[in-house]
Amino acid sequence: MEVFMRHLLSPLDFSVKELDELFDTASDIAANPKKYSKVCEGKKLATLFYEPSTRTRLSFEAAMLNLGGSVLGFSEASSSSASKGESVSDTIRIISCYADICAMRHSKEGAPLVASIHSGIPVINAGDGGHQHPTQTFTDLMTIRTLKGRLDNLTIGLCGDLKFGRTVHSLINSLARYSNIKFVLISPKELRVPDYIRDDVLNANNIEYEEVENLESAMPELDILYMTRIQRERFFNEEEYMRMKGFYILDNEKMKSAKPDMLVLHPLPRVNEISVEVDNDSRAAYFKQAQFGVYVRMALIMKLLEVEKPC
Ligand code: NCD
Repeated sequence: MEVFMRHLLSPLDFSVKELDELFDTASDIAANPKKYSKVCEGKKLATLFYEPSTRTRLSFEAAMLNLGGSVLGFSEASSSSASKGESVSDTIRIISCYADICAMRHSKEGAPLVASIHSGIPVINAGDGGHQHPTQTFTDLMTIRTLKGRLDNLTIGLCGDLKFGRTVHSLINSLARYSNIKFVLISPKELRVPDYIRDDVLNANNIEYEEVENLESAMPELDILYMTRIQRERFFNEEEYMRMKGFYILDNEKMKSAKPDMLVLHPLPRVNEISVEVDNDSRAAYFKQAQFGVYVRMALIMKLLEVEKPC
């Protein structure tokens, strides 16, 4: 009998109902962390990071350690056999003998999907090229749900590199499933969302959206402002990046025209798109957002490993 194993490759791999349950678990973890400190005893998480990361990798590792499990892995392709030419499918076959679950980040879109086909353990997509980043989206949704109290009836502005920003693609995909969501897509013309988001997600589902270039004029109507970094590593030439860098800088002056309860989110790292003076504004939620990432990843590891919730 073939055993069905779940992976997390796209944020849509979980239904809205499953996400609600995941966020309930994550909230309970935040309130009662001790209760969960042994639920993954004896289990191992492998972090296979072929691309740089601070938050995603370390929050995954912290999540598994908080659950009483252990972690192993690599944090750059050059220290793995990938540098000798090993394929992702061979690597995952081997990792399946060493660990119970893995999180993979790769510069190639679809690499975690390829891994999942050859894997004996659940594979979590921790970011694949300019494509998707489902666990960042779960973190974003958890942040909005907790701090705003809802995931519907929202006007959300996404600002910056909407073309290459994988967190943007995953967030639009996910929020499009909730009711009465309006997107304001704020970017230079060159960095607008790809067609597979505009046509296949927004237009195909009749989601309300507008594409604008000006951040200031969009501010007053937003409930959430999701700032993003210009994705330097995905540009074809440095000159083009230099032209785009600094296109948007959120500062206290611009925050004056925002709603008093608007939230500023950012997946981080930031470069210069949010001035540090904004950090003291009570609407700046990006550091809290990073903390939610640990709880969400703890809940996700438990779910994929089918670990019982402690009572
Ligand atoms: C994001 C990523 O890797 O896509 N970072 C993250 O995981 N929090 C955003 C970015 O690198 O700009």
